[in-house]
Amino acid sequence: RMGDEPVNVKEYQELAKQALPKMYYDFFAGGSEDQHTLKENVEAFQRITLRPRVLVDVSKIDMSTTILGYKTSAPIIVAPTSLHQLAHPQGEILTAKAAAACNVIMGLSFSSTCTIEEVASSCNAVRFFQLYVYKRRDISALMVKRAEANGFKAILLTVDTPKMGHREADIKNKMIAPQLKNFEGLMSTTVDNSEGSNLEAFTSSSLDPSLSWKDIAWLKSITQLPILIKGVLTREDVIKAMEIGVEGIIASNHGGRQLDYVPAAIDALEEVVLAVQGRIPVLFDGGIRRGTDVFKALALGAQAVMVGRPVLYGLAAKGEYGVKRVIEMLKDELELTMALSGCPTLNDITRNHVRTQIDDHH
Ligand code: FNR
Repeated sequence: RMGDEPVNVKEYQELAKQALPKMYYDFFAGGSEDQHTLKENVEAFQRITLRPRVLVDVSKIDMSTTILGYKTSAPIIVAPTSLHQLAHPQGEILTAKAAAACNVIMGLSFSSTCTIEEVASSCNAVRFFQLYVYKRRDISALMVKRAEANGFKAILLTVDTPKMGHREADIKNKMIAPQLKNFEGLMSTTVDNSEGSNLEAFTSSSLDPSLSWKDIAWLKSITQLPILIKGVLTREDVIKAMEIGVEGIIASNHGGRQLDYVPAAIDALEEVVLAVQGRIPVLFDGGIRRGTDVFKALALGAQAVMVGRPVLYGLAAKGEYGVKRVIEMLKDELELTMALSGCPTLNDITRNHVRTQIDDHH
């Protein structure tokens, strides 16, 4: 069985679990506290059903689109996730190469294990840079400058992480934060905390919990790049974001790793989409494991989805090839879903192609 070619994301997850030390698998797979939101992120997709249309000519399916003006083969983006070298020694460099090979956009985490420059020089994928704001604002500002100088096309400002969520597996495993290469010579990212998660100790001591809406103006003052805010779940925050002026919203609950008992990301998407009123793009992440999940998120109004853990599982199981296969499988499944639903293009996917529990109440 081990040598068999995995046929879906779930089988890549199994392979990754076998390949990785428990500490690292738990770090990638886990969520916060009761992991209720983590579980819901996947299960909520299973409660949404499809409403296919038949007798549509589906001999040609076009999944291509543009995101912030950049062409992509499919509405699938590699989500920014940290510490890829814990999955594979070449880390984010391989992930970015796989994204380029699949012609999809690569999201690079602020907490990457390869540098911004290494990732930029090893792949020609369109790249977005995810930003955390540290108490050391100068360090965050420097990373924005480096991303801009190295051809990254957007800043994804993560706003759901003023402090790190309580990830109990990491505490039990005494998860160790490796030195993050971007910060070499600037700050040490290894903190000794023999009591629990070294990663949490470092993250919590470095993140700036005072970050607030007024700081968007600061970020705008230091970069020309479009700013998308990642981790919005309510109409109240969409309204504030649009007042202040951002170029996009990412409906996300950080893969169930931050505040537990927020709704499944897919259950929060429509509220965000309705509040945005089509004025700026809405991206989505959380729980995407199948092409049908991508289709459902698009039907509920996302312009594209980001994929976090599946990419890490591909990387851990089979390196660059594994990441490529995971993206290709999701693309193939989306293509088939579009064909079987009577949607030859992404524009053909509408709200009426899905049925949610909200619809059942009406
Ligand atoms: C993340 N995520 C994340 N987000 C972010 O803004 N900065 C980061 O450094 C990380 N790091 C990170 C590490 C790991 C191991 C995971 C699983 C996730 C969150 C990520 O961008 C995305 O929101 C979720 O991964 C989406 O959920 P799925 O696709 O993993 O279900």
